[in-house]
Amino acid sequence: MLLTKTPSETEDYLSLQRERSRSVGLVPTMGALHKGHISLVKCAAGENDVTVVSVFVNPDQFNDPADLANYPRDLESDLRLLAGTGCDMVFAPDVEAVYPEPDTRVFDFGNLDRVMEGKYRPGHFTGVARVVSRLFGIIKPDRAYFGEKDIQQLAVIRKMTGLLSLPVEIRACPTLREEDGLAMSSRNRLLTREQRENAPLIWETLKAAARNREMDTGRLRQWVKETIDANPWLKVEYFEIVDSSNLQPVTDHRREGLRVTGCIAVRAGRVRLIDNIFFPNFDPL
Ligand code: PAJ
Repeated sequence: MLLTKTPSETEDYLSLQRERSRSVGLVPTMGALHKGHISLVKCAAGENDVTVVSVFVNPDQFNDPADLANYPRDLESDLRLLAGTGCDMVFAPDVEAVYPEPDTRVFDFGNLDRVMEGKYRPGHFTGVARVVSRLFGIIKPDRAYFGEKDIQQLAVIRKMTGLLSLPVEIRACPTLREEDGLAMSSRNRLLTREQRENAPLIWETLKAAARNREMDTGRLRQWVKETIDANPWLKVEYFEIVDSSNLQPVTDHRREGLRVTGCIAVRAGRVRLIDNIFFPNFDPL
């Protein structure tokens, strides 16, 4: 497994691969890797000749300086986890290598970044789109892999790829969970013991909401918030029931033929957790 720090050494290695007509898969990450990331790497390795994992904590996408300062970093342990997963190259640049000059581009995501994460983390998706497009520029992957856990990020990246006409296929991978249902996340390791013990309530509540056929949309949204907020360790920032095709909130999630996703952000002390669930469809059986 090759470790590179600069775009030029990365390009040298990859241009050699491309001359040999080898396809390249990219898994962008911010490190602090866990099994969720590794499942993306395995998926990439199964579909491409060369698999690249980028590890870069992108300052440009953190709207909260404390979140950036506390973000876990441990390249040594990341490299150990990646060994034997099918990863061929780890690109772990520093900030100057990715941003030799400031990136001030803005993108028109339409309504996509006016809701949920876009609303609660202003500028976040602009930062994500900038860094991912720069990584695509350096690596020039045939395919890039993203987790459904960050469902809105996935939609933003598809949109950015379309806006810039980049020849990259965006692949989505399912959310990996701990045994108790908590979605794996680099931020989970920042939870206190009590917060960690209570956090599975998020997924339990999402599952119950997706199964519920009695409550209308307004009542169900309220119920999810109340159920989680009743736990002293957790506080809901938002819960939205959205149209899976455009991530915009729906007024009647039981409408025939509609595909809906429940998306949630919860604060456990200073740690922010997000998760989502695809509702089974409400078509008559
Ligand atoms: P990061 O949070 O490190 O996540 C990297 C990738 O792993 C993302 O595509 C994310 O959706 C996926 N992922 C995280 N937890 C997962 C889980 N439990 N199951 C499956 N996939 C999971 O997302 C980012 O980094 C950054 O915003 C990035 C795209 C790298 C741009 O900086």
